[in-house]
Amino acid sequence: MAFPSSVRLWEVGARDGLQNEKQAVPAAVKIELIERLVECGVAYIEAASFVSPKWVPQMADSAEVMAKLKRKPGVVYQALTPNLKGLEQAEASRLTDVAVFAAASESFSQRNINCSIAESLERFRPVCERALGHGLKVRGFVSCALGCPFEGAVAPAKVAEVAAALIEMGCYEVALGDTIGVGTPKAVKRALEACAARIPLSWVGVHFHDTYGQALANIYAALEEGIDAIDASVAGLGGCPYAPGATGNVATEDVVYMLNGLDIATGIDLDGLVKTAWWISDYLGRPPASRVARALAARLRPSVA
Ligand code: HMG
Ligand code: MG
Repeated sequence: MAFPSSVRLWEVGARDGLQNEKQAVPAAVKIELIERLVECGVAYIEAASFVSPKWVPQMADSAEVMAKLKRKPGVVYQALTPNLKGLEQAEASRLTDVAVFAAASESFSQRNINCSIAESLERFRPVCERALGHGLKVRGFVSCALGCPFEGAVAPAKVAEVAAALIEMGCYEVALGDTIGVGTPKAVKRALEACAARIPLSWVGVHFHDTYGQALANIYAALEEGIDAIDASVAGLGGCPYAPGATGNVATEDVVYMLNGLDIATGIDLDGLVKTAWWISDYLGRPPASRVARALAARLRPSVA
């Protein structure tokens, strides 16, 4: 299949990235990060997470972030909503896009959302029904799509089964999460082939963490299959607090650099993105994980006072 001419690049740094930070990140910094990213041309952004604050304290100020954020028309702002309580908060925050997150591994489902895969799907059904009834759009995730921190290998058929269940209950797109970044291009192709047997691949996105340095190769493999929705995190921030050993998502700068080279449009200004990567990294007190951001540091790192 030919490469797509453009992709929807979902920036997840403010959620998947900051949810995993050890140090408290004030709402004002999260808001500035999101606004800077949008200024760079990011049009799809995971901005918040309405999960239990006991489970993920870093996201406890999501309502404040959404209340104070200056929203740009045309930009999609999305939040995670694991249950009806989360959806109600997202609606109160005037969000029109939410996401539910299932897993292809039983052990990870238990650790991450305290229920089995089947129970999670039963929990998501009323979330989807209510969201769709109120005119919201729901994206889905299948975590551990290429491997599980507790069970190891995950069957592509299980990934496809969970993805199809999420589509069936009304998700418009399902992102396959390599939660611990263990996958390789062959595993990507096998997971996508299994999905293609059940749902159109135009409804599938990829959400790869970069623990083993395979994420760009894996995205290239997905592009070869025609995938045109890619998740990434500025500066490579992130990880999942319930996935031991997982590092951040693939860095958005690295993805945009590769896509620019492939003539695949994202609408994102790479220089602005690199400046933003350095801005948040300097705030957090460590260099970006992104190779591109480090390569361009001499020209684009904002001066640190
Ligand atoms: P639970 O303890 O089984 O749920 O947690 P519960 O219904 O018994 O509620 C327990 C308490 O939490 C109650 O409070 C609820 O009110 C409260 P209490 O009565 O004890 O004071 N509560 C909530 N509070 C705020 N917002 C809510 C909410 N729901 C319940 N929405 C639950 C179940 C799903 C809530 C919990 O396990 C949870 O929040 N898990 C989220 C874990 C998480 O956020 N993980 C990271 C995101 S997923 C990820 O990173 C992977 C992804 O990036 C893709 C990939 O990389 O593969 C998406
Ligand atoms: Mg993730």
